[in-house]
Amino acid sequence: MSVSEHELREIRGLIEQRSGMLFDQSRERFFSSRVRVHVEAKKLAHGIDLLRLIKNSNVEYDSLLQRLLTQETSFFRYPAIFEVLERRVLPELHMKKFWESPRSLRIWSAGCSTGEEPYSIAMTIGDALEFADAWNIHILATDISRQALDHAEHGIYGAREIEALNLRQREQYFSRTNGHYVVKPRIRNMVTFAPMNLAQVVYMGKFDCIFCMNVLIYFSEELQAQLIQRFYEYLEPGGYLFLGHAESVAKSDVPFETHVYQDSLVYQRPAASRRAAVGVEQEKV
Ligand SMILES: C[S@@+](CC[C@H](N)C(=O)[O-])C[C@H]1O[C@@H](n2cnc3c(N)ncnc32)[C@H](O)[C@@H]1O
Repeated sequence: MSVSEHELREIRGLIEQRSGMLFDQSRERFFSSRVRVHVEAKKLAHGIDLLRLIKNSNVEYDSLLQRLLTQETSFFRYPAIFEVLERRVLPELHMKKFWESPRSLRIWSAGCSTGEEPYSIAMTIGDALEFADAWNIHILATDISRQALDHAEHGIYGAREIEALNLRQREQYFSRTNGHYVVKPRIRNMVTFAPMNLAQVVYMGKFDCIFCMNVLIYFSEELQAQLIQRFYEYLEPGGYLFLGHAESVAKSDVPFETHVYQDSLVYQRPAASRRAAVGVEQEKV
């Protein structure tokens, strides 16, 4: 089995072009070793055989992609983010939508991996919004990995995976089966999982909050800036964007307001001011 530098470059180019994932110098060794393992597992003789395979078959492309994805995640990964969601964002949305009937909340977890992030959002809503059952809560959770989504949809986790949850959360939101923890329907029903490649533009409608944590770091600066722009457009005025700790909106020129909360930054699309709103109304007339 042999994979030449040239073949690696071609495979890397194809993956970058289709998924937006960038394998720069810092991730070059990770990339080449995973590709070589894959070529061996597929019992192929050369890198060119793999290239042919992934160009001709989506199943084969997905299978290689799966080997290259990093799906590390956990429940309540950044506690401060979930605290700000509970203490600031949800009460603000509650006030804003108080007179709406029915009251609805749309949240997007973009790059949700195996589901811990959207379920943490759902639990935070379950804890924070009084009478959450009376709201229409839609958490859209998307990822490029069908394998991760499959895991997420089942909502079954081991004891180690739920370590970050306190006893009350475990009892309130999970049932126990054969030593595993299964997300209860009340939480499960808030979340819809769907495959989605963030490198492709899809019409999404508007969201009150977007979580895209620890995903942008894998993309080129250009794609990061495009995504930040798209997230801004997908957010309702006053809506919030949550990124991972190593990510920021700094390299884009989108006018987010930045709030610092403990060790985290939170980005808010400015709410349309009353004067601006009146101006728009007047223009329409
Ligand atoms: C490190 S995980 C982050 C999971 C979660 N957001 C968190 O912070 O715990 C990154 C996720 O991004 C997904 N991903 C990578 N490239 C993607 C793309 N082009 N479109 C959608 N999801 C992608 C991966 O499959 C993976 O599940």
